[in-house]
Amino acid sequence: MAILVTGGAGYIGSVTVEQLTAKGESVVVLDDLAYGHRESIDADTPFYQGFAGDRGLLVHIIKEHQIESCVHFAALAVNLGTGRGHSVLEVIETARRITGLAIRARIEGPRPGDPAWLVADPSRAKALLGWEPAMSDLNAILQSAWVWKKKRPRGYRSLATAK
Ligand SMILES: NC(=O)c1ccc[n+]([C@@H]2O[C@H](COP(=O)([O-])OP(=O)(O)OC[C@H]3O[C@@H](n4cnc5c(N)ncnc54)[C@H](O)[C@@H]3O)[C@@H](O)[C@H]2O)c1
Repeated sequence: MAILVTGGAGYIGSVTVEQLTAKGESVVVLDDLAYGHRESIDADTPFYQGFAGDRGLLVHIIKEHQIESCVHFAALAVNLGTGRGHSVLEVIETARRITGLAIRARIEGPRPGDPAWLVADPSRAKALLGWEPAMSDLNAILQSAWVWKKKRPRGYRSLATAK
């Protein structure tokens, strides 16, 4: 019995695969690699490069691996905001503090078409779905991104060459 993760080589999918595997689940990944990275999936995890709408391929995978459930991430990302924005300067200063690097920045006027202020309002999702943002603290976001970047300075290519 195994869990099929479609889009498992993508941003959210690859973390899900890692966590399911760590819990001892058997995982199979299907991803067309349009946006994902093969290197984000452990070599021991069965991987199929293909389209999530390919019925024949799905039937084959389900039978071959006795799939009992599916986590479907093979789609375009839609992000919801928190209703609270951060200025570019705030992001740069937080990044300087977390990385300890003197990140150079030049302050200039806005480019044509730049909005002065742009913040997503999640109140409808909150009212309709009871949705609440989690893990949206700027420090935590940049800290985890920095940990990832230090581990993989050249992105997933670092992993491919390290193996
Ligand atoms: N990233 C976020 O912050 C976030 C937040 C909430 C929900 N989501 C949802 O999670 C899902 C995945 O988001 P993500 O950020 O990991 O995106 P992603 O683009 O990193 O991952 C999607 C993966 O699916 C693959 N894919 C796309 N269409 C496919 C298809 N038809 N057949 C096979 N593979 C296909 C892509 O190659 C990619 O590897 C989306 O549905 C998104 O709406 C993402």
